[in-house]
Parts: sequence; structure tokens; C-alpha cells
Amino acid sequence: MIGIGSCGGLRVIKTRPVEAGQYVPGVISYPTVKLTSRARFSTVCLHAGQEPDPTTGAIITPIYQTSTYVQDELGKHKGYEYGRTHNPTRMAVERNIAAIEGGKAGFAFASGMAAIGAIATLLKAGDHAVVSDNTYGGTFRLFDKVLTRYQLSFTYVDTGDLHETERAFTKATRMLFVETPSNPIMRLTDLRAAADLAHRHEARLVVDNTFASPYVQRPIEFGADIVTHSTTKYLNGHSDSVGGIVVAVRDDDIEWLRFVQNAEGAILGPFDSWLVLRGTKTLALRMQQHNANGLALAQFVSAHPKVKRVYYPGLPAHPQHELAKKQMNGFGGMLAFDLGSLEAARRLLNAVRLHALAESLGGVETLISHPATMTHASVPADRRAAIGITDGLVRISAGIEDVEDLKEDLTQALDHV
Ligand SMILES: Cc1ncc(COP(=O)(O)O)c(C=O)c1O
Repeated sequence: MIGIGSCGGLRVIKTRPVEAGQYVPGVISYPTVKLTSRARFSTVCLHAGQEPDPTTGAIITPIYQTSTYVQDELGKHKGYEYGRTHNPTRMAVERNIAAIEGGKAGFAFASGMAAIGAIATLLKAGDHAVVSDNTYGGTFRLFDKVLTRYQLSFTYVDTGDLHETERAFTKATRMLFVETPSNPIMRLTDLRAAADLAHRHEARLVVDNTFASPYVQRPIEFGADIVTHSTTKYLNGHSDSVGGIVVAVRDDDIEWLRFVQNAEGAILGPFDSWLVLRGTKTLALRMQQHNANGLALAQFVSAHPKVKRVYYPGLPAHPQHELAKKQMNGFGGMLAFDLGSLEAARRLLNAVRLHALAESLGGVETLISHPATMTHASVPADRRAAIGITDGLVRISAGIEDVEDLKEDLTQALDHV
């Protein structure tokens, strides 16, 4: 058992063992993992799933940029046959994030959407899933425009309201898919209650943990069956790679996901795997700064007279602040606020200098965006209105800059509103 303990105020948790080389069926044997059973979160982030390179001792896992592996003789190989099926760099990042999330196995994909697409293959024609109503727009698009063509059905509800969520369950429901905090209005779902609800109905709880990162929240601790991330965001953290990961705990899910990852082939490439491994080494440090800057900016905009409403779970005024304190470690780097009109939002977005006007989130640089016309443009206007994504809503992904510089930039930009 790898224990993850206190780091920057993080409570002690336990996670499952993820052994080096566990997916390699052949003769290669890795040295045993250096982590002790007491290894704490930042230590797990740095070391889990990785060993010094057996050939050279290189401390950093090499980028195995190869499509195939030479076999010793017919029927005898080193556990690696073909690059889509096995790649040591990818397998290292899979073990690393599985350990970080407290799961049993991880599967890395070419994007966050490819990861969610793989999860959806756990459903069969006729199955139904209940989904958070303000899930990422691309997730909604995949479910609504693609997967409904294959006799899958989806009901979108405010999963922050467990009664409403339970009412959406049918006999065919096999999955509860939640995002918490949700994007962009930071609505929370009670993870433990959601897991209990899903399991009472013999469904899986799947959590898209992209917005929080595993430093802030580890859904498997609360009973989730599957956790997914767009690694493009906090896990990679440096805005230089697109990828996705699925972490699972159930043996049947693991067996299926391994099969599907190879069968569909939407794998994360070796270089991107290496970039994400580089990213997770500093996850704990980065998240401490993202948390601090997110809170400071939320407090700053809350006090500004031109800001009508702020969405950030770390503010006592957030309706689920108590739940946030229970299931999150810090409140993350994402916040949104309403300026009341499209014109006001436009003026702010065109006036910022240090905040980069861009989609995406979770990188070291602070990004600012307009959900209604950018990340959530694929969500129909009536659904956007129902969820609270108004034309005046602005979203910030707080980076790790000095927060005083960020506040100065917002101050000058808000003067243009
Ligand atoms: C919460 C969430 N999940 C999934 C995705 C999809 O990830 P990717 O862009 O890596 O495909 C995103 C992308 O923004 C996201 O914000």
C-alpha cells in the first residue's frame, strides 16, 4: 500500500499499490519502486511509476520514440512488441498518475476527449448515463452529437442536487458522470453521496477531475470508480501538450480499458507522455500557488464594484463552501465572475495585458476567457442560459505569477469596463 500523507496541509490518505512494470507481460523486470509505504503526496508525484533507466541509470524516464521492438528469437521478446500496445514512457506516466489518484491502473490517451470517449465504451447500446448539466462543452458535444447515434442516452442534471440526480436514474442507467467543480460556474457535487447513489443503482461513478487536479481532490477516496483528466491542464501544467488519462479501480474496467486503448489506438505519444511526467513532478508545488492565486483573485474581484457575481468555492459566500472544505484541499485556480453584459466582458477581455486571452486552463500562465463564445460555444444558447453561462461571464485560470501583478492587470482592465 502506498500511503500519501501530509503535504502543504494535505490530509493523510491511503492509496492502492501501483507497481512498476505491472502491465508488462514479458521478461523485463524493473527494480522495485523506491517509495516506502509512507511516501507522501509530493514524493509520489515525483517518483511513482518511474525507475532510473535500466540501461544507463538516467534518472529521467527516456522518451522511447519507437514504433516497434526487436525480438530475441521467434516467440521471445522483452515484453514489448508494438508501440501502440506498449510504450515504456507512456506506461510510466500511466503508473505515475494511477498512484497519484489512488487508483489501480491508468491509461493515457491522445486528448482528454479521447479519454472520455474510451470511458464511454464501457456503455452498451441501450444504456443510459446521468451527466452533470454544466459539464465541459466538448463532453456534452461528444455525448449529445456522437454517442446518441449509437443508442446511448444521456440525461443532464445539476448533480449538485442529489435528489434531482436520483430522479434522473432509470433502470438502464449504468453511469453517473460528474465534473466537480463544474466548468465554468464552479458548482460542486458531493462525491461521497454521488458514489453511494451510483452504486445503489449498480452504476459507476465517473469523475472528470480536470478542474481540481488530484492535489486538490482525489475522487477515488470518496468512492469513485473511474477518474479522468485532460492532462492538457494541471497534470502537464505547462501548456505544451494535449492528452488525457483514465484511472480505474475495478478489475473488469481495467481489463476493458486496456483492451479498448489498444483496439481504438488513441494513445498518448511518447514525447507527450514524457512532458506529462515532467509536469507531475511539480504538481504539488504548482497547485499550492494556483490555490493561493485563485483565492486571492476571487477575493479581489468580489470586492470590485463592477463585478456583479463571483463563482469560487473558496469564498464563504459560495453556496457549497462547506462541501468544498470537506472534499477539496484548497479550492483550485479556477474562478469565474459576471460583469453583467457582453459589452462589459468584451471591454475587460480586450484590455488585459498579463492575463492571456485563450481557451484551456491549468497552465503556469494565467489565462482569461469568455465561456459563452469560447469553451462553451458548442452548448446551445438556451442550455447555456439555464446553467448560468451568461454573456457577461468571464473565466480565469489563475497561473503561478506574482498575484500582485495579476491584480494590477485586472485593476487597469476593469477601468475600461
Ligand atoms: C473539464 C474538461 N474535461 C475534458 C476536457 C477535454 O480535454 P482535451 O482538450 O485535452 O481533449 C476539457 C478541455 O478543456 C475540460 O476542460
